[in-house]
Parts: sequence; C-alpha cells; structure tokens
Amino acid sequence: MLSTQGLSLRFGKRALFEDVNIKFTPGNCYGLIGANGAGKSTFLKILAGEIEPSSGSVIITPGERIAVLKQDHFEFDEYETLKVVIMGHARLYSIMEEKDTLYAKPDFSEEDGIRASELECEFAELNGWDAETEAARLLNGLGINEELHYKTMKELSGVEKLKVLLARALFGNPDILLLDEPTNHLDLEAISWLENFLYEFKNTIIVVSHDRYFLNKVCTHIADIDFGNIQLYVGNYDFWLESSQLALQLAKDANKKKEEKIKDLQQFIERFSSNASKAKQATSRKRQLEKLTLEDIKPSSRKYPYIDFKPDREAGDQILNIESLSVTIDGEKILKDVSLTVNKGDKIAFVGPMARQKRHFFRY
Ligand SMILES: Nc1ncnc2c1ncn2[C@@H]1O[C@H](COP(=O)(O)OP(=O)(O)OP(=O)(O)O)[C@@H](O)[C@H]1O
Ligand SMILES: [Mg+2]
Repeated sequence: MLSTQGLSLRFGKRALFEDVNIKFTPGNCYGLIGANGAGKSTFLKILAGEIEPSSGSVIITPGERIAVLKQDHFEFDEYETLKVVIMGHARLYSIMEEKDTLYAKPDFSEEDGIRASELECEFAELNGWDAETEAARLLNGLGINEELHYKTMKELSGVEKLKVLLARALFGNPDILLLDEPTNHLDLEAISWLENFLYEFKNTIIVVSHDRYFLNKVCTHIADIDFGNIQLYVGNYDFWLESSQLALQLAKDANKKKEEKIKDLQQFIERFSSNASKAKQATSRKRQLEKLTLEDIKPSSRKYPYIDFKPDREAGDQILNIESLSVTIDGEKILKDVSLTVNKGDKIAFVGPMARQKRHFFRY
C-alpha cells in the first residue's frame, strides 16, 4: 500500500501541495487529474522518491516495488530493447548481471559456487526463467516486433522508444505502477492493448492522463488535484464529472428533503453501474458505489475553462470538398485518389498506422 502523510511541497513562496493525506490501495486504478501545471507529474515524482517533499512523507509497505514510466528517451540508448524492459525490475536484472559475471570467471572458486547457488535461488523466486518471454510478450503487445528486440535503443524511432519504456514499467508485475501520460503518441492498437493490460492488473496503479476515454476504461477512482489538495472520488472519469456536479446541485438545493436527495443519488449510481462496459470491473465498482452515501459525494471546486469561437458569418453546409487527391513524395505514393466531403458539424477522426500519410493529408 502507498500513502502520504501531511505532504507539502513549496517552490519558493508558491505551495504546490499543502498537507496532502491520501491512501492508494491495491486492486484500484487511480486516475490523477488536474489542470495543466496543477502538479500531477510532480506528485508522481514525489511518490516515486525522485523529488523530496518540503514536509510530510510517503509511506510504502516494506518490500513493495514501485515501477515508473521513464520520461528520458535517451537514458538507455546503448542497451538492447529486451534488456531495457527486464531492467525495469532492478533486483532481477542485477542478479542476472552478477550471475553472468560469476559464470564467466576463469577461476570459479568454491565460494563463487555458493554465491551462484544463492543467486539462482533468488532468480527462480523472482520468476527469472520467464523474464525474457514476459518482456517479449509486453513488447509484442505494444507493437514492437521480434526484429527490434535485440536492437539498441538508439536504433529505434521516438514512438518505439516510448513503447519500450512503457513495457519496462509494466514488466515483472510491480506492486505499484506510476504512469505519467502513457497514451501520449501511442497508436490506437497500442492504447487498446494497454487498456486491457491495466484492466487485468491486480496491484495499485496511479495514472496521469488527459484522455477521458482512457480514464473511463481503466480507472476505479479519480484523484483530482486542485488548489494544492488532492480529493479522491470512487468511480471513473465520467462518474466523477457527473457526481461532483450532482453534489453541487444538491448542495445548492437546500430546500430539497434528504430522502429525495438520496433517491436522486441512488438513481444516478444505478444508471452509472449498469452503463459500465466491462462486467468484472462493473461489479466491483458497483459494490464500491453502492456503499456511497450522500456525504461521500463531494462537489468539485474545479472551474471549467472553455474556448468560445465567434465566427464572422455563418458557415455554409459544405466546408471542404476534395476530389481525387494524389500525392507522391520521393517516389512513394502517400495519398492515392482521395475524395472527401466535409459538411458543417462533422467531426472526423483520422486513424491509421502511417503517421506520414496523415501528416501530409493535413498539409495539403
Ligand atoms: N523545480 C521546480 N521549480 C519551480 N517550479 C516548478 C519546478 N518543477 C515544477 N514546477 C512548477 O510546478 C507546477 C506543476 O508542474 P507539473 O509538471 O507537475 O504539472 P502537471 O500537472 O504535470 O502539468 P501538465 O498537465 O502540463 O503535465 C508548474 O507550475 C511548474 O512550473
Ligand atoms: Mg505533467
């Protein structure tokens, strides 16, 4: 289990966090949300021990292992990708290194033999024999095929590196998994694989994301950073959004009788539980939701910014018309005979594996 006690962080005069007391328990996936600059990344760094708080402390159950999605894409440039993934479990990797050094010794002594057998024992306990298979499975799942497993990181593209670093964090079933914006730059297939992985994951996850669809799929709780504090809510992103607004409305509605408010709340929870897409998560979330009382549902202090575009004149019905557009660059056909009409109010997603095609399409 992971918790904080009276945690505060100040940068000069500015307090980013003030007296944060929060508990993260196994089996739950916490979506850490908040405006840009609210302190999400900083909070994860404090939990990971990379930044010292100004006061207060982070408490982790002794023996538990934290895994973090690394942000430095060049840190492992000289290592093979499969190795980088296994290095995610520092203890296991150091055992492997020490074993290799021992067995390579020309004058292998009796003492070395004893040490080697100790290492073999711990190696087996940590599931070391399956390490390469597991690392390969994670890489393949994220779309990094076998031919890249033995290349060094510096030979990989930016997105490929990112996927390796993600596999590194997921490797070896950590007790606590900290992920800062893991879906950034990932293709849809990799995002969907990650969603399933996190969904099956049994330990504690804390994930920062600005992607509400992703948060809705994986989160059992929402941790909202606002005004230097962190509030925990049961449920996924949409539940948080609606329940905190419902709570605000109920709080304003002072004349309404308590029984009526409870009825409103129950109806809301029922609607939400039956909507949840995946059965297992739905039932465990439902159990948590059913325990909620009116007092548990807290209004959020969040203000919602928005952008309001005022057009000079009303747009016509047809916004864009493309007929038989083809593009060839350096002999490569990027677009071939593309026709498309965009009508007013259309919302179009460009999907597909080739980043270059999509980029060129927008450029033209
Ligand atoms: N070492 C530092 N010294 C001073 N201020 C800092 C330092 N590190 C971070 N900050 C400030 O702390 C605030 C929180 O930054 P952080 O990166 O944690 O935000 P975030 O919630 O992750 O934002 P985003 O959604 O944009 O990723 C920012 O205003 C940032 O400028
Ligand atoms: Mg951040």
